[in-house]
Amino acid sequence: MHSGVGASYIAKCSACHPRDGSGAGTIGRSMRIPSLSSPQVHAQSDEDPASVTSNGASKMPAYKKKYSSEDIQRLVAYIRELARK
Ligand code: HEC
Repeated sequence: MHSGVGASYIAKCSACHPRDGSGAGTIGRSMRIPSLSSPQVHAQSDEDPASVTSNGASKMPAYKKKYSSEDIQRLVAYIRELARK
């Protein structure tokens, strides 16, 4: 796995999404953020979580200005890795 991805995830995403991808983090619990390891996430094509990450959705911030599409693909792959555990 790309070594920087886990650190980016923890720095940028783990306030809302928990480190292990399950359930909800501190903010996530109050914002009713869906578990990233839920079956819906598993069933989606690679494009859906990537486009949510790029463009945002409701309270989910858009990251396309912060990350290249390659970085976003890596983050999505990282989330999938978390979801498998
Ligand atoms: C400010 C809180 C917040 C931060 C920070 C955040 N998210 Fe989210 N995220 C959300 C919310 C809220 C949703 C649900 C959006 C919706 O209603 O569809 C979500 C949804 C998602 C989904 C779709 C899950 C699904 O069930 O389809 C993915 C993938 C995702 N986030 C990835 C990330 C990644 C990667 C990062 C870091 C780069 C990140 N998020 C940072 C709040 C956040």
